[in-house]
Amino acid sequence: MTARVRVLTDAEALADAAARHFAELARAAIAATGRFAVVLAGGATPARTYERLALGEMLSPADWERVHVFWGDERRVPPEHEDSNYRMARETLLDRVPIPARNVRRIRGEADPRQAATDYEQALREFFGAGSAPRFDLVLLGMGEDGHTASLFPGTDGLREGRRWVVAHYVEKLGAWRVTLTLAVINAAAEVVLLVSGAGKAERLREVLEGSVAAEPLPARAVRPTAGRLVWLVDAAAASLLGGEGAARGEDEP
Ligand code: 6PG
Repeated sequence: MTARVRVLTDAEALADAAARHFAELARAAIAATGRFAVVLAGGATPARTYERLALGEMLSPADWERVHVFWGDERRVPPEHEDSNYRMARETLLDRVPIPARNVRRIRGEADPRQAATDYEQALREFFGAGSAPRFDLVLLGMGEDGHTASLFPGTDGLREGRRWVVAHYVEKLGAWRVTLTLAVINAAAEVVLLVSGAGKAERLREVLEGSVAAEPLPARAVRPTAGRLVWLVDAAAASLLGGEGAARGEDEP
């Protein structure tokens, strides 16, 4: 499967393109199935995308009624904590759009991580229906400078999980617990979009997109939807070391 890599001029152009792409996918899914099930990414990069998505011209109130929001991961903090991925999305997007509260399903960072993971997997199974694959219309992800995505960090147990949809694991390098979707869910999506911004990610992005298979698998490199599309939306700073062979690259094309 070839990943599509779209290079945007800067972080603002990346946020605009990501918001427009989100809205386009949402309208298409709502037209086709009556709903749009999306996984939001945490961290800092998506914040500007969420702010732009909250602008009126992106999605109508009727669209937001049919959007169902989940998270790719959560830190072990309460929802009002400054590190909460839920709080970031609430402040930049969810408090600004008419999405029904029942359509927002957060990971309970305040709870015991293992219980939170079990509960979240149950919530996914209830939403998608027993026995069905959790096929999200869109999974938004970021990428850390170490190549992690969601809270799948190099060397962590969650990377090897093949059955469960949500796991809790202790991340040594952070000295913290995280709850995260597994690759089983991420790679079942209809589309996965990774947002990468900044020169600090350039070397790792080159390694993920163009490097040889590493002894230590990079989590972001394991994101390969089995029957879906993979799109990288990156800014020029993050793409500065890319050679461009192999991946279908478009320089800021629509
Ligand atoms: C998190 C995210 C994580 C994030 C990367 C990139 O909880 O932090 O799920 O995977 O996407 O760490 O973070 P930045 O966007 O802040 O660089």
